[in-house]
Amino acid sequence: MNIGIELPQQYVTQKCAILGVTGSGKSYGAGAIIEEFLKEKIPFVLLDVMGAHYGLSEKFDVLIYGGSKGHPLDPKAGELFAEAIFDINSSIIFDVSHWNDFETQEFIGSFLQKLFNLHSHDKKPRHIFIEEAEVVFPQTGFDSSKQSLLAGNKIMKRGRSFGLGMTLITQRPQDVNKKTLSQSQCTFILHMEGIQELEVVNKMLRNEPNKVELLDGILKYQTGDCLLYSPAWLKRIEKFRFRKRETYHAGDTPELGKQIQEPLLRQMQPLVIQTPQQVNELGMPTSTTDGGEEENKYKEIVSVNTMMPIAVIFAILTGFALGWF
Ligand SMILES: Nc1ncnc2c1ncn2[C@@H]1O[C@H](COP(=O)(O)OP(=O)(O)O)[C@@H](O)[C@H]1O
Ligand SMILES: [Mg+2]
Repeated sequence: MNIGIELPQQYVTQKCAILGVTGSGKSYGAGAIIEEFLKEKIPFVLLDVMGAHYGLSEKFDVLIYGGSKGHPLDPKAGELFAEAIFDINSSIIFDVSHWNDFETQEFIGSFLQKLFNLHSHDKKPRHIFIEEAEVVFPQTGFDSSKQSLLAGNKIMKRGRSFGLGMTLITQRPQDVNKKTLSQSQCTFILHMEGIQELEVVNKMLRNEPNKVELLDGILKYQTGDCLLYSPAWLKRIEKFRFRKRETYHAGDTPELGKQIQEPLLRQMQPLVIQTPQQVNELGMPTSTTDGGEEENKYKEIVSVNTMMPIAVIFAILTGFALGWF
């Protein structure tokens, strides 16, 4: 997988992190990695907190839920989505840019917990990219982040043996739970400048004889420049530049007087979940309530027991045959 440097496909089950100040190129670089996943058809899940990734569907078939471009997404549907994507091989982007932190934590907590359970019974490779990782795996937080933090820790510690890998993306590594972040075996360090942020990297590089030189380099990095730090797994500590993107990067800051050229996106059919008792279709087009407000809820279409009508007809026919009527 060429992202400006060669990465092995085993990245899919690895624990990774992308760190850098805002505007340093984290989302752009993560997008380059994800483009390679899409080319190789390696399944992934992406939690897109800023709505920066829908442009991937300019060239690739990828399910998008939430945000301005995706099918509607409900914060309470985490478990349902984990079940729905577990069996299929396609990848999915959850654009939660329209939610508050509590909604994001609720959704991703139940989603990750369920996904971990499913993978622990039936191992298969899948990677999870988490943008703004400090939101769902905070160092200090409220009860609302408890489930997502526990699930995140489990995946970073034990997910690999069940096929699950994860990349934590953050501009504030000091605010990401230390137990979670310290598991990273493949860290991409882009430009950094804050003292607390650099302190995290300083600790990470503590055993490197050329630590001062490396830190000095990071301070001077241009957008897109990156240090690949993977001393144990890839046995590489190397500066590179993330390659040019093949799809539209929606993370660009809008500029005054400059028209944003949105690309044409490929549309994918929404997921359909079927159980014997009910058919839940996730991602029906948004409907409008009396007040005219948008209802971003997945629609429970019917709760039909398909065996019922057959049983009634059978009983009537039997009745006739036996001369009851
Ligand atoms: N490797 C790169 N090559 C060219 N432009 C880049 C590169 N990385 C980032 N950029 C540009 O820099 C800006 C910020 O990048 P982005 O990835 O959105 O930053 P952040 O670190 O905040 O996620 C964007 O306009 C993007 O197009
Ligand atoms: Mg970003």
